Amino acid sequence: MPETSRATTTHRRLLLFCFLSSVLCLVLSEPVEGEEAEDISRSHFPDGFLFGTTTSAYQIEGAYLEDGKGLNNWDVFSHVPGNIKENGNGDTADNHYHLFLEDIELMHSLGVDAYRFSISWTRILPRGRFGEVNPMGIMFYNRILDHLLLKGIEPFVTIHHHDIPQELAERYGGWLSPLMQEDFVHFARICFESFGHKVKYWVTINEANLFVEMAYIRGWYPPSHCSPPFGNCSAGNSNVEPLIALHNMILAHGKAVKIYRQEFQGKQGGSVGIVVHAMWYEPLRANNELDQQAVTRGLAFGVGWLLDPLVYGDYPSEMRLFLGDALPRFTVDEIDYVKGSIDYIGINHYLTLYAKDCLHSSCPPGGSDHAIRGYVYFTGDRDGVPIGQPTANPGFFVVPGGLEKTVNYMKQRYNNMPMYVTENGYAPPPDEAVQLQQILHDVKRINYHKSYLAAVASSIRDGADVRGYFAWSLMDNFEWVDGYTLRYGLYYVDRRTLKRIPKISALWYRDFLAHSSGNALGLAEYYGRLEQDLRVAGLEDL
Ligand code: BGC
Repeated sequence: MPETSRATTTHRRLLLFCFLSSVLCLVLSEPVEGEEAEDISRSHFPDGFLFGTTTSAYQIEGAYLEDGKGLNNWDVFSHVPGNIKENGNGDTADNHYHLFLEDIELMHSLGVDAYRFSISWTRILPRGRFGEVNPMGIMFYNRILDHLLLKGIEPFVTIHHHDIPQELAERYGGWLSPLMQEDFVHFARICFESFGHKVKYWVTINEANLFVEMAYIRGWYPPSHCSPPFGNCSAGNSNVEPLIALHNMILAHGKAVKIYRQEFQGKQGGSVGIVVHAMWYEPLRANNELDQQAVTRGLAFGVGWLLDPLVYGDYPSEMRLFLGDALPRFTVDEIDYVKGSIDYIGINHYLTLYAKDCLHSSCPPGGSDHAIRGYVYFTGDRDGVPIGQPTANPGFFVVPGGLEKTVNYMKQRYNNMPMYVTENGYAPPPDEAVQLQQILHDVKRINYHKSYLAAVASSIRDGADVRGYFAWSLMDNFEWVDGYTLRYGLYYVDRRTLKRIPKISALWYRDFLAHSSGNALGLAEYYGRLEQDLRVAGLEDL
């Protein structure tokens, strides 16, 4: 073959190879659905940043009547047929009470820096302050703390996460009564005394603002109080009760922090904060000034409702303006211990919604014309187009930029005080999580965490003082009124055997945490490892 024609053929072959390989490369590098362009690694976060996983007591512990534990409001509520999907309850939950060593081992194998969990009030105080301290409860949490510390995992402890002693619910209606403040302080003091030398991060109360929404506006959580148009309950007033309950929670928090600072913080050296449920909003009508104001009001009536008193000593002015005398007032003495009562803000962030003004515009019925809603209508879609990819919770959409904006909002409104993303997580829509294979191959959860972590990293680059990120949740668990139908875990929990099996998101998180400069493995390797794990567990024929 003449030299020139051989050269041409080689050239053609080379071109063909390049063409084919670039097509192949394109196919291989095609981003999976929902994946953000930015890749994310530990090196995008400052030294000392805490990566963790999180759970709460009622959602995982089970052992609801063991070793002296008293009944709480959720034990009672979940036993009423029809209250929880598929009549689930927390009687056994994930049996963490008996399997905590295994669970700590799972976290150790993931390589997390920290673990956020909560203390079951009635495991420590079966009858609130009307009975004795349960030594078995104290021992249980001491064992958890000891094993975490042994494994080099920093405990991040929430004192109260939705469950209150049933005794207090019956005696005086739970958080509607100012007497609850003394109960909470009693409980918190026992926690500081018994565990404080092992705990550097305390959260007083989880998402008080979401809790009162669910318990006293919608009536979905015990004690199921609400009034029309928010819901049809046998008791309650959605316009007033949430304001009273949250006020009591804020005062309870302030009193507990005062005690911690006066009697414990100096010698124990921990910090104390609160966790707020923080949604982000975008104006429904783009570039519309009224809807922009609705966004501002929505944030004030959400985040500001809880955090403004703790930072500035009073509720946001918008709330005062619209709610008038229905909004409780703080006395001078109360302001003294409420104002400045957090060392950091814990942010639980799951979703972004559109906000529409209802002061000057017409809105659909359902409560947005009420002051308690700040005259704002919230929706997940604009002209039938959802704001982000759907998740299991109708109305929860994947919008990573919403977390960045939330953090930046906090940074500005609260003088860039230290922040931790104390919860962020994803559960797939139920029809996408039917087969075990689908559940375990949770690429969407990986993409969710990657893109939200990228959002946090971006806010840090812009100067926000975010110091940690906790994935909700370590494992599938009791998802309140949704029972076991929604799965937020990095680990799958088999409801019959309670066996924990890593989803590929767990393998991804482990890989992410192990390599500061980026994940070493790809999806193919995660699938391979999962198969291997399943073989070891004797579950290969799924
Ligand atoms: C709560 C968790 C809950 C999670 C997912 C958060 O608001 O703190 O207890 O499981 O949302 O719905």
